[in-house]
Parts: sequence; structure tokens; C-alpha cells
Amino acid sequence: MSDTKEPRIVGFLCTWCSYTGADLAGTSRMPVPSNLRIIRVPCSGRIDPLFIFKAFQEGADGVMVSGCHPGDCHYISGNLFAKRKLAVIKRLLEWVGIEPERLHFTWISASEGAQYSEETSKFADQVRSVADLPNPLARTEVMS
Ligand code: FES
Repeated sequence: MSDTKEPRIVGFLCTWCSYTGADLAGTSRMPVPSNLRIIRVPCSGRIDPLFIFKAFQEGADGVMVSGCHPGDCHYISGNLFAKRKLAVIKRLLEWVGIEPERLHFTWISASEGAQYSEETSKFADQVRSVADLPNPLARTEVMS
């Protein structure tokens, strides 16, 4: 039995593209990290910075946000707002001591199951490399 800590990852996925891409990866039996918990959102632009802080506070080791590709957002530019928001959130997280490797933003379409599989696996490895470092936002009681 390995004593390596398996990181907890929260993924906020836009329902129109990335969530469907995740579904395609699953139905195509592509490998996806089992430690990734998905939260479906109407658009990546719906992500409030507090969602991300709350995830880290509740003990997440990494957070991923994924939306439609530029030009494909069902709400026109929610994905572009999300990308800008995430850049600021990443800097805020760094400021409070959360490594930038713990937050990832990507664009995955409904037909990109393979890309979803690859992106999530790479991100899980990236989070694994920092998961043992302290998370200054985490409460002492963590989510199960
Ligand atoms: Fe998918 Fe906006 S609807 S990112």
C-alpha cells in the first residue's frame, strides 16, 4: 500500500461543453482521475471567486475550471470573463500561500473527451506534486 496522499480535486465544468466532454470521456472509457469531483455550472463565467476559496477551505488540493472554447460560450463571453477572473484569483491565492499549480483553467468542448482525459490526468499529476504542502486555507476538518 502506498503512503502517497491522493489529492482531492474539484472541477467546475460548464454544462454545455466541458461537462459533456467529461461525459464523452466516461462513456468512451477513457481514463480520468477518480479523485476529481465535478460540479456542473451553467457557464464558466458563473464561477464566483468564493466557490474556489470555499473549495480550498473545505480541503480541496486542487481546483479546475473548464468552459467552452472562445466563440462557443452559450452566454457569448462568459468563458472570457472566467479566464480573466481565474488569472486574478490565481494571484490572490498565491498571495495567501496557495501554489499556482493548484488552480487550472481550460477550455474543453463537448467532442473533446480525449482532451478532457488528458487535461485532467495532467492536472491530477500537477496537484499531486504539491498536495503534501500545507494548504493555509484548509480548515482542520476536511471534506471526505
Ligand atoms: Fe460554456 Fe459559457 S456556456 S463557458
